[in-house]
Amino acid sequence: MDIKLRPLKLTDADYMKEFTEDEDISRNLLFTRYPFPTENMISFIKTSWEDKRNIHYAIANENDEYIGTISLKNISYIDKNAEYAIVTRKKYWGLNVASLATDKILNYGFYTLNLNKIYLNVLSSNLRAIRFYKKYGFNQEAIFKKHVYRNGDYVDLIWFSYFKNDFNDKRFKP
Ligand SMILES: CC(C)(COP(=O)(O)OP(=O)(O)OC[C@H]1O[C@@H](n2cnc3c(N)ncnc32)[C@H](O)[C@@H]1OP(=O)(O)O)[C@@H](O)C(=O)NCCC(=O)NCCS
Repeated sequence: MDIKLRPLKLTDADYMKEFTEDEDISRNLLFTRYPFPTENMISFIKTSWEDKRNIHYAIANENDEYIGTISLKNISYIDKNAEYAIVTRKKYWGLNVASLATDKILNYGFYTLNLNKIYLNVLSSNLRAIRFYKKYGFNQEAIFKKHVYRNGDYVDLIWFSYFKNDFNDKRFKP
């Protein structure tokens, strides 16, 4: 499947609702711990058009249908790092879309923004995402023990990262 990254559109909010309404997805995300009505999604989308420190793109297919959101947040131009995040609609799981979108955002981060390191965190209970990050080539750096209170329990938060040098070696195809 061909995919592209594009700015978020207001109509994407209709699909983004799936992330808060589907327990399989929402239990693995942190923003879903708070009420997230449509108005908040709309303001999230509008803010994303202006915000230079937190980049959020839609992953879209050849028909421009919204597949998910991929982000580089907390971009530091001093330390040359940023925090990556991804969520895709369930019907696109297992189709290599997450990997293709990650190629694009990491290329953008390393070669357009000139970052040195891109990192992420994930709940230790999110086995599917952890498998995806390892498969993609992110390396585990740290575990913050019982760091997040989720569904009545404290859960470990695992940190992964990707360095530009490793990306050059493993994934970048000029
Ligand atoms: C994380 C996400 C983007 C990954 O995309 P995806 O299309 O599901 O990823 P893939 O199918 O390429 O990889 C998932 C891997 O996990 C495996 N997997 C699935 N369920 C699993 C489980 N319970 N335990 C371990 N591995 C599991 C799959 O088999 C696959 O591995 P394989 O390719 O070796 O068979 C997507 O699942 C998603 O959006 N999840 C919900 C939001 C989320 O959790 N985001 C991350 C927040 S940190």
